[in-house]
Amino acid sequence: MIRRSVLLGTGSALPVRAVSNAELAQTVDTSDEWIVERTGIRNRYLAGEGETTATLATDAAKAALEAAGLSAQDIDLIVLATATPDQTFPATATIVQAALGIDDCVAFDVAAVCSGFLYAVTVADSMIRSGAVRNAIVIGSETFSRILDWEDRTTCVLFGDGAGAVVLGAEESEDGQRGILASKLHADGRHNQLLYVDGGPSTTQTVGKLRMKGQEVFRHAVTNLASVLTEVMAAADMSPADIDWLVPHQANARILDATARKLKLAPEKVVMTVDRHANTSAASVPLALDLAMRDGRVQPGDLLVLEAMGGGFTWGACVLRV
Ligand code: UT7
Repeated sequence: MIRRSVLLGTGSALPVRAVSNAELAQTVDTSDEWIVERTGIRNRYLAGEGETTATLATDAAKAALEAAGLSAQDIDLIVLATATPDQTFPATATIVQAALGIDDCVAFDVAAVCSGFLYAVTVADSMIRSGAVRNAIVIGSETFSRILDWEDRTTCVLFGDGAGAVVLGAEESEDGQRGILASKLHADGRHNQLLYVDGGPSTTQTVGKLRMKGQEVFRHAVTNLASVLTEVMAAADMSPADIDWLVPHQANARILDATARKLKLAPEKVVMTVDRHANTSAASVPLALDLAMRDGRVQPGDLLVLEAMGGGFTWGACVLRV
């Protein structure tokens, strides 16, 4: 028998306040034309009072549990990917655990910025396949609006807030055709000054603001994503022609287009949400996945490829049959 982590349900949550490019252009020296042409972004959601990484994560987790038909007490593991935790500690995952009413389970955060959800899924999958746990909630949740420098137009127009979650569960089968078939993760810390936050508890004792050399990140993103996608497809013994849906990290529509071209994948097979959510870092892949599940694009049996690249640099990809 082959034990795999299968996708049981997805959920997501967005802040109440939607902010269009035009609204942003009232306070930032930018324009709707520039943002749309360079990034594909038209809208983002920004957290307001009472909305935090933990509250968004909790709402996304509840929706995913409902979709999975499980109760909170069925959950053995919560892995939450974020670069914007509610507090330095405890882990935001434990705040979500308490909010869900789970008395005892494993709960921790993963910090891999925009690739955080891929890292979190891979860790949860390893723990499920090893037999350590049976059911896991994996969450990507961010409130990047709180670490943006609103005076820096080269970064503040690019990001938004939100959360996405999946419930993964163990399934034993003869053929192992369903669930997470392969995943690959990478990091290269030599580039950590191209995308970082200029503060932290052990250095400045402040939270800091996001800093990015966008053009250089862009170049690395296209190269690294193409290479990890080739690697993960080979590991799953699949070819790009087998892909039903590419669910990418939503940093820039031009990166998504370039990645699809490199894979010779039709643009209609790429789930694109950057126009409505902007870049929500670790939340972007599960937000896009939840959207494509709920609008009926993703059907049972479909082959999905998830990918992301971000600060660190970190990057990764995962092949999943629904
Ligand atoms: O999620 C983690 C991964 N992150 C990414 O993958 C982000 C990757 N990078 C990018 O998406 C793009 O590099 C950006 C969208 C950040 C920037 O696009 P670009 O085409 O590389 O623009 P640029 O930085 O070369 O800037 C072009 C011009 C500059 O003006 P000059 O020097 O040509 O006169 C900028 O000052 O655009 C100007 N500019 C703006 N203009 C209006 C920069 N930001 C803005 C703005 N509004 N918000």
